[in-house]
Amino acid sequence: MNIIQAENYQQMSELAAKKLIEQINSKSDSVLGLATGSTPEGLYEEIIKAHKEGNVSFKDVTTFNLDEYVGLSKDNDQSYYYYMHKLLFDHIDLKDNQANLPNGDAEDLQEECSRYEASIQQAGGIDIQILGIGLNGHIGFNEPGTPFSIQTHIVDLDASTRNANARFFDSIDEVPLQAITMGIDSIMQTKQIILLVSGSKKAEALEKLVNGPVTEDFPASILQKHPNVTIIADREALAELSQ
Ligand code: F6R
Repeated sequence: MNIIQAENYQQMSELAAKKLIEQINSKSDSVLGLATGSTPEGLYEEIIKAHKEGNVSFKDVTTFNLDEYVGLSKDNDQSYYYYMHKLLFDHIDLKDNQANLPNGDAEDLQEECSRYEASIQQAGGIDIQILGIGLNGHIGFNEPGTPFSIQTHIVDLDASTRNANARFFDSIDEVPLQAITMGIDSIMQTKQIILLVSGSKKAEALEKLVNGPVTEDFPASILQKHPNVTIIADREALAELSQ
């Protein structure tokens, strides 16, 4: 694993944007894996800025998001569909039919999982995957205990994850109970991973990810076995590692 230290959140976002832009400028039809949450917001701002300055075009790019809540419609402002459009897709020249998210509102959720996994394969696989990490070591919505062998699937969200995400909703009761997520196996098949970590709250999780045992009890630990992972973390997040 390659670890890059950023001074702060802003620098972490700039370094990540630079890597994504280099990827697209060297392969215009790149397939990107994208994440939501607070961590990549700065990255998306930097990408929009670069696009507006004419430094990158998404016209041949395809994207796949990691996950989506079950039961929220696309126009629900807490759906990841809404998030991605508001924070990135509406501001760049990515074609609508090339921006993919699992449909958490599908009638047959199992079939939606198989369809999503197959469309990643059809696109030739993901060239570069952006990840964040949950306090309990989740990546995507793969909660502790998720088998490493699993592909896109439906998950029951951990109470701790629902609590952590409650800040985006009016109340905890409104946080969905389930989500569709790319599985650990889907993530491990991506060609390159960029994991972003910011803030002291994530320091313990980052230390466990890098130095802890590889175990399904801490899903992100599997990244130790991926051949091409770059962690871009700020000083606060790296605090436990540097000790
Ligand atoms: C989001 C995702 C999650 C987040 C994680 C960290 O698509 O898959 O695994 O990356 O929950 O979230 P933040 O960045 O809000 O701390």
